[in-house]
Amino acid sequence: MKTLKSIGYSIELGSDSLRQLNQFLKNENYSSYFIICDENTLNHCLPALLSSSMILKDAEVIEIESGEASKDLEIASHIWQTLIELKADKQSLIINLGGGVVSDLGGFVASVYKRGIDFINIPTSLLSMADASVGGKTGIDFGAVKNVIGTIKQPKGVFINFDFLKSLPERHVNNGLAEVYKMALISDAQFWKKLSDRTNDDDLEYVITKSITLKNTIVKKDPLEKNIRKALNFGHTVGHAIESVLLGTKNELLHGEAIVIGMMAEAWLSYQKKGLTKTELNYIVSVLKTKFNPQAIHTSYTNAIVDLSLNDKKNSKNEIRCVLLNGVGDYKIDVAITPVQIKKALEYYNSVVE
Ligand SMILES: NC(=O)c1ccc[n+]([C@@H]2O[C@H](COP(=O)([O-])OP(=O)(O)OC[C@H]3O[C@@H](n4cnc5c(N)ncnc54)[C@H](O)[C@@H]3O)[C@@H](O)[C@H]2O)c1
Repeated sequence: MKTLKSIGYSIELGSDSLRQLNQFLKNENYSSYFIICDENTLNHCLPALLSSSMILKDAEVIEIESGEASKDLEIASHIWQTLIELKADKQSLIINLGGGVVSDLGGFVASVYKRGIDFINIPTSLLSMADASVGGKTGIDFGAVKNVIGTIKQPKGVFINFDFLKSLPERHVNNGLAEVYKMALISDAQFWKKLSDRTNDDDLEYVITKSITLKNTIVKKDPLEKNIRKALNFGHTVGHAIESVLLGTKNELLHGEAIVIGMMAEAWLSYQKKGLTKTELNYIVSVLKTKFNPQAIHTSYTNAIVDLSLNDKKNSKNEIRCVLLNGVGDYKIDVAITPVQIKKALEYYNSVVE
């Protein structure tokens, strides 16, 4: 059992975390509880949550459909409507029981309902345990643009129960690991070395704990992403654009899968524009390729990916701004990139995976 202190709340990790949650609920005395989950977390995680705390016996459960498409204004409206009908008030608590989709959406809904009510995250996917549940970024997608509507509002607590991983499909384990590898690349060369040498997933509790500890250290220093927090977006300028372009097509990728491609493309840009050496580039690309087996991106998508990169939240003055690596464990934020360079990075990516 481990506790990390974050910005005004605690992150509880381990087998005791649901007991800690029960204690938290006893201390806080909320007027009512609304558990947001999707069909998978309803089946696999809700029973354990409900049996961990008598306080939640009358909680209302709001179920959304699983998947990125639920990070949508219409779904958010449906939840607000339900909260109004069920008379949620300023002292109500929203409990996000799920992966990053549930915590991004549920956190956003809570952060503006009645000008903001409390919410907590109980992450159930590897990606949300290792990354999304901490840091207070909430939001939804709008049209083709990912995470473009949102808020930064810290949860009141994060309770990480590794047992939930038992039912998580293998594809989603790898998906979450992508963000872990990113965390190591930007901030911890030793951790990256350990990840590079991994041969199986026996160490998930360790890698999640390490990853969320690294993230928490960064967001505590820069909660509003004015400066170093931008580093967490390594791989995301190209990655988000790819994820958005493929959303709803037969080639749709999970968030982490798109970020792997983004990291490989942006590692090449780091070699071109920053201090990353050819040896480091080859090392990073070969580790990511071996671990994640990413597929080529058809050139018919290139223009749309470049266009969407121009819409990225990190941009400024119509320039694409990217996080690049100076080396493993060292980064540079706000590097200006041209559309042509993005195109070339995609060509490089395809040349190494084809
Ligand atoms: N806010 C942030 O800081 C942040 C950081 C990284 C990613 N994100 C966002 O997170 C989202 C991706 O998160 P995700 O990969 O967790 O997606 P997700 O919430 O869709 O979960 C992945 C899948 O796993 C299922 N699932 C979750 N837990 C399960 C369990 N214990 N057993 C069985 N099935 C389970 C879900 O139902 C879903 O089908 C993206 O929208 C991304 O933008 C946010």
